[in-house]
Amino acid sequence: MIDNEKVIKEIGTPTYVYDVATILDRIKYLKGRLDADILYAVKANSFIVKEIEEEIDGYEICSKGEFDICNSLDINRGKMVISGVHKDRPSIEDMIKSYDDIRKYTIESVNQWKLLTDVAKKNGRHIHALIRLTSGNQFGVCEEDLKYIIGHNDEAVIEIDGIEYFSGTQKHSIKKINKEADKLITLIDTLRDELDFTVKEIEYGPGLPIFYYQGEEFDEEAFLEEVRAALVRIKEKGVKLSLEVGRSLVAASGRYYTSIVDMKSNKNGNFVILDGGINHLVYYGGTLGMRIPHFQVVRVTEDEAVGEIPKELLVGTEDENGLITYNLHGSLCTVNDILVKNINSRRLKPGDVFIFENVGAYSSTEGISLFLSRDLPQIALSDKEGNLKVVRDVIKTSSINLPKY
Ligand SMILES: Cc1ncc(COP(=O)(O)O)c(C=O)c1O
Repeated sequence: MIDNEKVIKEIGTPTYVYDVATILDRIKYLKGRLDADILYAVKANSFIVKEIEEEIDGYEICSKGEFDICNSLDINRGKMVISGVHKDRPSIEDMIKSYDDIRKYTIESVNQWKLLTDVAKKNGRHIHALIRLTSGNQFGVCEEDLKYIIGHNDEAVIEIDGIEYFSGTQKHSIKKINKEADKLITLIDTLRDELDFTVKEIEYGPGLPIFYYQGEEFDEEAFLEEVRAALVRIKEKGVKLSLEVGRSLVAASGRYYTSIVDMKSNKNGNFVILDGGINHLVYYGGTLGMRIPHFQVVRVTEDEAVGEIPKELLVGTEDENGLITYNLHGSLCTVNDILVKNINSRRLKPGDVFIFENVGAYSSTEGISLFLSRDLPQIALSDKEGNLKVVRDVIKTSSINLPKY
């Protein structure tokens, strides 16, 4: 549970808060609905990895930085799958040399396979791997490369357990998921028939969707039931199935708090300036604030000196419910810093806090956070009782943008 009053009073704005209980419940829910192991895609939010260690079956780690975060937090390396389109030699050497208990690595190119083989061999290690199948972009390998690797692999050095496949996020078409299941099933059969190779494991990223905007309707339970049926078809091939999930696991856990710092009106409308903008808050599919995400507004100060815009200076008139139209902007020097356009709200005033929902996945890392040398917000975790633990203090980006002499 997140106690908004407590967040505003104890931490202030701008800030992100993630509710740990929401994430733990979500892991249980998805595991139950989909009847598969779930690996957490760390890129979605690295601040909650420790909190979920008991419940989650593994971690999908896509960079040395993500590995360092998880390793510093003493995450069980037996749960780590080291993935990523760029695997550089020093990082791979560091991981393979230093640790013999990392669960497995993914192979995303013939060169990565050679690199992993070379480093493992030189260090006397036997490692496990999955080959990532491409969906036609820069990630993973095509079927020909995949067969080449299997055909030439030295099993004494790398044991290839199976296939990884992830083609994209925000998939709400069951047709697409069924097509991907068909593709994996055909590949399992082909590898058995042509190369006498048994796929023991499939690690599949279904790209489960989140519906961020007001007015959207989605029967998630029915959708997950159809996903489950697609997954059953893969499992019938006798493989162990793990799902890589990021967004759907953590998005709903997060709230972003930002305060009104200024307001003005001109012929184009009523403008609200917030202490955070597109440097902090990114919603998938939200361009130039055209779609309205779920949010609430809280009045914090009743101080008369901190005023509303005088009625006669506002553009437009209040409707029958006392609502007026505003545009919400951040604090960056770009006209693109629009959080939401044309929201209808009761009269706003500086100090009011906007609380945006569903920001637990990707939001804190996807923004243009270094632009204008504005500070990075604090991040806190909330427990069941609403107690807050700050897991990141404000970070001054001015030190990152400062040249060194
Ligand atoms: C390889 C891989 N697996 C899993 C994910 C997680 O996807 P999602 O957040 O849609 O669950 C991503 C996201 O980019 C990814 O690149």
